Amino acid sequence: MSLTDLGAELVKLLPPEAAHRATIRALKAGLGVPVAPVHHNPALAVTLPKSGLKLHSPVGLAAGFDKNCDVPDAMAKFGFGFIECGTVTPRPQPGNPKPRLFRLTEDRAVINRMGFNNYGLDYFVRRLKAYRGEVPLGANVGANKDSTDRIADYVTGVEAVAPYAHYVTINISSPNTPGLRGLQDKASLEALLTACGAAERAGKPVFLKVAPDLDAQAIEDIVGVVRKQGAWLAGLIVSNTTLARPDSLASPHRDEAGGLSGMPLMEPSTKILAAFARELSGEFDLIGAGGISSGNDAHDKICAGAHAVQLYSALVFEGPGLVQRIHDELLHRLHTDGRGYITDIVGLAL
Ligand SMILES: Cc1cc2nc3c(=O)[nH]c(=O)nc-3n(C[C@H](O)[C@H](O)[C@H](O)COP(=O)(O)O)c2cc1C
Repeated sequence: MSLTDLGAELVKLLPPEAAHRATIRALKAGLGVPVAPVHHNPALAVTLPKSGLKLHSPVGLAAGFDKNCDVPDAMAKFGFGFIECGTVTPRPQPGNPKPRLFRLTEDRAVINRMGFNNYGLDYFVRRLKAYRGEVPLGANVGANKDSTDRIADYVTGVEAVAPYAHYVTINISSPNTPGLRGLQDKASLEALLTACGAAERAGKPVFLKVAPDLDAQAIEDIVGVVRKQGAWLAGLIVSNTTLARPDSLASPHRDEAGGLSGMPLMEPSTKILAAFARELSGEFDLIGAGGISSGNDAHDKICAGAHAVQLYSALVFEGPGLVQRIHDELLHRLHTDGRGYITDIVGLAL
């Protein structure tokens, strides 16, 4: 076990939110961050077709781990191909009352109802400006809970972060800000994307992050609006956490309110990803998230149409050494399947 993984084991002994705070603090101080540069294998390199983002690996860090953009350099050193920070809202806000983060250890899952706790755009943008890394850094923006004009919050967010980020994500799929997911409805989404399309984006790619709790009609509506926006929108991130509670959940925390992520989200979020990919692949970039904890999971998302993937919850159980393990497993899988490059398997299962 590496020192980093040992640290991750020790942190697991703390309650989840304290563990997260301790981890961010340690990373900020440089503790446990690898010093040796990660080896980049060209077989894993990807250029996202629409946005043109160049990644040394298709495996990224999902939003929510580094809400205030405190440690993107440190996280990049664990080997991630891209890092997404946020969600950031225009004004700082405390989020929901604690406890609001639960480990479902038996299920390799997490439930959170954090509610966009963050220090606000001013702090975030200062951190973003300080980033010197080469690994692409995405900035994920949202709306304040008490906002009277949520669409204006997104426009403010996009315009503030775009000059300094490699890409921007519009997050309308958190289940923990009441009414936020309503922005996925056809008319609201149209209004939101029209406003963001007119925003000053500094030429940066913009992604839309959607929920996994969508029926066929909702998917069709989103596809229609996204296609109509056409040129300026880079693609979709599929998906955020789920409100569903599969019968298989065994943890005593299973009925906590909030979004469920981790292993039980792998299958449903991959199905939704494939549904979007069947409609949109070739037209938009697709980033798959939800339940990835192995090279096989990342492989399955890519075969379901993802050009790149993101993960968060599995880090809670596996520690950051997971990124390298996923790379090794992906390379092994490519080799046994007789494929040369990760880009050869995009959408193979569709
Ligand atoms: C504690 C926690 C906080 C999160 N916060 C955010 C957030 O602020 N913005 C966002 O877009 N997604 C957020 N997410 C969702 C993740 O980015 C990801 O989409 C989801 O957890 C599925 O991936 P996973 O199963 O690998 O965790 C959060 C997830 C967790 C577990």
